[in-house]
Amino acid sequence: MLLSLGVTLWTLSVSLSSVSSVPRVSSVSQCNLQIPPHEEVARVARFIVHVCDWASLATVSSREPVIGQPFSNVFSISDGPVKHSSGVPYLYLTDMELSVKDLRVDPVSSLSVSLAQTDYCRESGYDPQSPLCAHVILSGRVIQVNGSEAEFAKASLFSRHPEMMDWPHDHDWFFAKFNISLVWVLDYFGGVKTVSPEEYFKASPDRKTRL
Ligand SMILES: *[C@@H]1O[C@H](CO)[C@@H](O)[C@H](O)[C@H]1NC(C)=O
Ligand SMILES: *[C@@H]1O[C@H](CO)[C@@H](O)[C@H](O)[C@H]1NC(C)=O
Repeated sequence: MLLSLGVTLWTLSVSLSSVSSVPRVSSVSQCNLQIPPHEEVARVARFIVHVCDWASLATVSSREPVIGQPFSNVFSISDGPVKHSSGVPYLYLTDMELSVKDLRVDPVSSLSVSLAQTDYCRESGYDPQSPLCAHVILSGRVIQVNGSEAEFAKASLFSRHPEMMDWPHDHDWFFAKFNISLVWVLDYFGGVKTVSPEEYFKASPDRKTRL
């Protein structure tokens, strides 16, 4: 009852393009994603990074004939086992991989993550390019992790991408993280919002209240 009221109000507020504090819920009951309110930008960013399983990573190409040009490629990510979000996107990499060759030359890169990969945008009828289909762009660099952080990266990635356990063992895989220097959030109207790493890591990706 309360849920359907929330959906109605949200739809109304979107069609009027008015600023509203009505909590967002999916318009379709099968979609269980409960996004934090768009005013809580850092929480929205944490939420997106936690629920998404893959990202587009843009590196500076080190390969002919596009040396020095942006090169965007798909990677599986995980910031923690489900419901154990760290906020740090971890990656499972090998030097045999196309983009990793770029990262060895220059680790500066950008990671783009979108709720377009979840049911949320599809079932709400939000086009991936719409600001209502919340997405984040992370600036930073990819760095290898070792020791206990590599153990956490392994648990994070293998629990959500079990196929990784069977990837060829002779490819010298290692764990890495996307070390965030700035978070750009495109969610709702009014242009991009930025979040510092400090604000981002302080925020909780979970909703504190439910409808
Ligand atoms: C992790 O180990 C690799 C290989 O020994 C090393 O190059 C890298 O600097 C280490 N990273 C950290 C964060 O200590
Ligand atoms: C990782 O990111 C933090 C926050 O932006 C920064 O202070 C630190 O120098 C970065 N570390 C590396 C190795 O780039």
